[in-house]
Amino acid sequence: MKTRITELLGIEHPIIQGGMHYVGFAEMAAAVSNAGALGIITGLTQGTPEKLAAEIRRCRDMTSKPFGVNLTFLPSVKPPDYPGYIKAIIDGGIKIVETAGNNPQKWLPALQEAGIKVVHKCTSVRHSLKAESIGCDAVSVDGFECGGHPGEDDVPNFILLPRAAEELKIPFVASGGMADGRSLAAALALGADGINMGTRFIATKEAPVHDNVKQALLAATELDTRLVMRPLRNTERVLKNKAVDRLLEKEKTLGSQIKFEDIIPEVAGVYPRIMTEGDMEAGAWSCGMVAGLIRDIPTCKELVDRTMREATDIIRARLTGLLAA
Ligand SMILES: Cc1cc2nc3c(=O)[nH]c(=O)nc-3n(C[C@H](O)[C@H](O)[C@H](O)COP(=O)(O)O)c2cc1C
Repeated sequence: MKTRITELLGIEHPIIQGGMHYVGFAEMAAAVSNAGALGIITGLTQGTPEKLAAEIRRCRDMTSKPFGVNLTFLPSVKPPDYPGYIKAIIDGGIKIVETAGNNPQKWLPALQEAGIKVVHKCTSVRHSLKAESIGCDAVSVDGFECGGHPGEDDVPNFILLPRAAEELKIPFVASGGMADGRSLAAALALGADGINMGTRFIATKEAPVHDNVKQALLAATELDTRLVMRPLRNTERVLKNKAVDRLLEKEKTLGSQIKFEDIIPEVAGVYPRIMTEGDMEAGAWSCGMVAGLIRDIPTCKELVDRTMREATDIIRARLTGLLAA
């Protein structure tokens, strides 16, 4: 399948694996890229620019296909060494960067002078247009269903994607709730040029996370995610567990008085305990409603091939067939 995204990024299939904290290691990115989609290493998960440089080298040993790096710009008292991460990305020969969080404008000249295509992840049409106006090459439009940070507007993809298609000139991928060929065919119908999947890629054989995480995704339904940190205007969609129940109880009790310090035990530093050690009650971790559509743990290649096959069948047989009838 050829779309503006496969052309822009030089990939075979219009599928991107979004950056994921403590999931986006070299094994994940390489497996997705080897399947003909775009794998992404999560920059900040590596901890330092030197470790990111080493992770890029490790990934290159595992794949000759293009892969990208995610750089998430967080509001922070003590910001990470972003110039160092940018240098590691450029020196590592990376050609695709997924940015997320704050406006990436400050970093665009350095990245684009190095021939890097920048895909900025946005949760609204407003932010997508801003990304287009500052020169981003594409955007990833993340609907309310998504795992992680859906923003504060709560617009689901059935509205957000056609709205994005109406306004944007640059290519965009549909993100949030994408699971299979039905998602891909629907996203294309709504005007997107491909899909970005997060949660679905965690339930794959190669995802470098504890098996408990994969089993939790198999067990979860579409009713099992919760929104946390809304009072802090830093809303995150996470999988329900005891820590999330506690966090929501604090939000209810403290109301608008709540501060980040109040929820540190539930959110700070919990990812290694969950993703690496498999302690599923350790804290709040990002998970999309799409968990309700996850029923197996295929290899990345099986998942990508199946998605492409299903989408092709839907377009060729089901949709065209409806017209013929
Ligand atoms: C466990 C997990 C961790 C994530 N971490 C990040 C991150 O560090 N940076 C980022 O930009 N997006 C992050 N995301 C969001 C994904 O890149 C992607 O936008 C989102 O998962 C899409 O929604 P879906 O889960 O419904 O596919 C994370 C998502 C998950 C599930």
